[in-house]
Amino acid sequence: MFNDTQFKIIFEYLKKRYGNHIGEGRHRITFESKYCVIKLPHNSAGYLANLYEAKLYKTDIYIRHRLAKCKIVYFGDFAILVMQKLNTSWHWTEMPSWSKHYDCQQVGTTRQGEWKAYDYGY
Ligand SMILES: Nc1ncnc2c1ncn2[C@@H]1O[C@H](COP(=O)(O)OP(=O)(O)OP(=O)(O)O)[C@@H](O)[C@H]1O
Ligand SMILES: [Mg+2]
Repeated sequence: MFNDTQFKIIFEYLKKRYGNHIGEGRHRITFESKYCVIKLPHNSAGYLANLYEAKLYKTDIYIRHRLAKCKIVYFGDFAILVMQKLNTSWHWTEMPSWSKHYDCQQVGTTRQGEWKAYDYGY
């Protein structure tokens, strides 16, 4: 479950380890390492989005090829998400047509140039 005290402790830990966060959405704050991003939920909806994203990636074998790889990592009993880092600096006109199925076309490319969605945990 989301817990504000744990959030603050983990936020400080991630900031020390990875520096300032590179992104922030309505539900999650994103830190970057070399090949991955770490998504820290800042509310309960973000906590559930992380769990759902990891579950979808693991179980939905039909759409997995369109999803950035991810998995849950626990800090004590607080779940955060580690996800494959994507290049997200594309104009929407350059994105594949299937990206319209994802909220705000939140897709990007891997280092191999494959298109993947990175915000799919509703
Ligand atoms: N896999 C990724 N690779 C690179 N940057 C990412 C990745 N995932 C997220 N980000 C960055 O972090 C930001 C916040 O992440 P994300 O969109 O998943 O959070 P959210 O709170 O669910 O967002 P929203 O407000 O769209 O619901 C993104 O807008 C993007 O800039
Ligand atoms: Mg988003």
